[in-house]
Amino acid sequence: EPEHDAPDDGADLVVVANRLPVDMTVESDGTRTFTRSPGGLVTALAPLMRKEDGAWVGWVGTPDVELEPFEEDSIDIVPVTLSADEVELYYEGFANGTLWPLLHDAVVDPEFHRTWWNAYVAVNRRFARRAAEVAAPGATVWVQDYQLLLVPNLLRALRPDLRIGFFLHIPFPPVEIFAQLPWRKQVLEGLLGADLIGTQRASDAGNVLRAIRRLTDVTTRGQVVTVGSRWTRPERHVRVAAFPISIDTAAIAELAATPEIEQRARQIRHDLGDPDVMLLGVDRLDYTKGIRHRLKAFGELLADGKVAAPDVTLVQVASPSREAVERYKVLRDEVEVTVGRINGDHGALGRAAIHYLHHSYPLEEMVAMYRAADVMLVTALRDGMNLVAKEYVAARVDLDGVLVLSEFAGAADELTQAVIVNPHDIDGMKSAILEAIGMNPRERRRRMRALRRKVVDSDVQHWASSFLGTLQAMPRRDTHV
Ligand code: G6P
Repeated sequence: EPEHDAPDDGADLVVVANRLPVDMTVESDGTRTFTRSPGGLVTALAPLMRKEDGAWVGWVGTPDVELEPFEEDSIDIVPVTLSADEVELYYEGFANGTLWPLLHDAVVDPEFHRTWWNAYVAVNRRFARRAAEVAAPGATVWVQDYQLLLVPNLLRALRPDLRIGFFLHIPFPPVEIFAQLPWRKQVLEGLLGADLIGTQRASDAGNVLRAIRRLTDVTTRGQVVTVGSRWTRPERHVRVAAFPISIDTAAIAELAATPEIEQRARQIRHDLGDPDVMLLGVDRLDYTKGIRHRLKAFGELLADGKVAAPDVTLVQVASPSREAVERYKVLRDEVEVTVGRINGDHGALGRAAIHYLHHSYPLEEMVAMYRAADVMLVTALRDGMNLVAKEYVAARVDLDGVLVLSEFAGAADELTQAVIVNPHDIDGMKSAILEAIGMNPRERRRRMRALRRKVVDSDVQHWASSFLGTLQAMPRRDTHV
């Protein structure tokens, strides 16, 4: 069986990501239904995918599910199966117990296990093989994120005719931290199979280039890496550059302006007891998000008497995430103990100081919360971009609201009119929260107007087209297959 031959009717644009852009639900009688998941990536790519005969290779999110490819909304969905062991070793293990913390500046200790690495290699191979099977001759393949760092080079070995792009959604740390990884060289060489490597911030691109220079044998010049030598095999150039991701700004703004959302926003404040000030945090329950630091700052403001509950109320949405990973269980306990303590000390009957919600909500409800909140707290210790910050700004069609934003989130490079904080500096955060609460309406408006300009000019469609445009404009070399 000529398994790796490109079918003539293959896809001209292939996205390869750990997760498929569909959510699977299993009915009580065992039938499976699929609904498109609300992610920004698929929103941005859907029109392109429809036009270019697109395919999306990914995992459906549940172990041991074998699915034939199917079409959803004119996109070919190409499922990759992961066994329960692989979910544990590749997904929970190497992706989320090794790479996730390591690439976020080791804010918690990354664990290094050879069994995890072996599973990561095996699963990356499977994704690469699947992509090789569905890509048309000369197609563009766009590989996403830290779960699939080895795919670019594995894919190039199978299909040298392809244009391969890679985008890292999370940060890349300084080489001194990345160098801890026992498989650092293999990972960088895996990545170098791409023609274009995109990062969120310019500093991430700089860190990738420095790691390549220090830890591999290839040469770099500016943003360009030269792989191979003129004398041995054909030279190939790899570009590393920043392409800050964004959101579907128009869709969020449009939603935010509907009477239903405005009404829901009023209802939310009413349900909270019409506080003078509503503070809001919205995060996946992840240790990179600085939720504990945020709670500490708010708790101290209450204890110091600088703010009083329930006049000032914090709503913290923490959506469940990676719950099988030990460090996430620990974090959940820490957050919930802290919330309970603060509410015990500062709440009143029927009026909590913190409304803590361990749920995920549909976009409509999130947008209503954004519209309801006076101050949005984004206090990540490290974050590739942080789309919540951009969504908040997009939702404030009324030009009101204040964004408090960590300098360690990629969004801080663009959203410079936010109140910028260092989440490790608890006193600094307390002052920033007070500044945000006390900011006068004219200043709020001035800043929000400037912030909104950024997310209107650079939305996710712009992100996708500038990455793909750059990739497709790169000179093709002669390939001898
Ligand atoms: C981050 C990562 C994504 C990931 C998402 C949700 O945004 O960059 O690659 O899909 O978190 O995490 P999960 O582990 O549930 O896919």
